[in-house]
Amino acid sequence: MYEMIKLKYNYKDLEPYYDSSMFNYHYNVLYKGYTDNLNKITNEFDVDRKTDNFTNIQSLSKRMSFNANAYILHSLFFENLIPMPNKTLLSTELVNHIKKDFGSYDSFIDELNASLLNIEGPGWVVFGYDKFLDKLLITQIEKHQEMPLVDFIPLLVIDVWEHSYYLQYKTDKKEYIRNLFYILDFNVVTDRYNKIYLP
Ligand SMILES: [Fe+2]
Repeated sequence: MYEMIKLKYNYKDLEPYYDSSMFNYHYNVLYKGYTDNLNKITNEFDVDRKTDNFTNIQSLSKRMSFNANAYILHSLFFENLIPMPNKTLLSTELVNHIKKDFGSYDSFIDELNASLLNIEGPGWVVFGYDKFLDKLLITQIEKHQEMPLVDFIPLLVIDVWEHSYYLQYKTDKKEYIRNLFYILDFNVVTDRYNKIYLP
């Protein structure tokens, strides 16, 4: 049974950067829907295995991919937010790794912003570590039912689906992105990184 992550902040605490009614809709309607669907689909898989009936496997796999990735990405996104005053920082080790793989920290931030602004349609921007390539990467995920990287560990997840900003920012995605940077929890990003590199 998959559960929605527990938040370490109240919706109101993210204002004015993230409107509480928009957050409520995002968390309690959309994210809850993906979580409920994931549990339902998991049960359907169990039934198919017990009855040895896999006639619906294609649609079931597609629904699983869409809802499981929506559940994972939203869980990570809500987890890597924090209210102001936000005093979180990336660790020195992670910053040094970023400098090695992106050339400089400024290049990393520029690439992150460019990825967020230029994603085609709805989607996600994820900064993470690819184990197979042994490299930190920023990737755009335009359709999360078609997760493009298979050995990729997300460190920072940013939702740029329209539903994540439209109620407050309308079409001003740039302003949403600018304000979102105030409430990103870099301690969480560092913790996720440490789980890869520290014993
Ligand atoms: Fe979302």
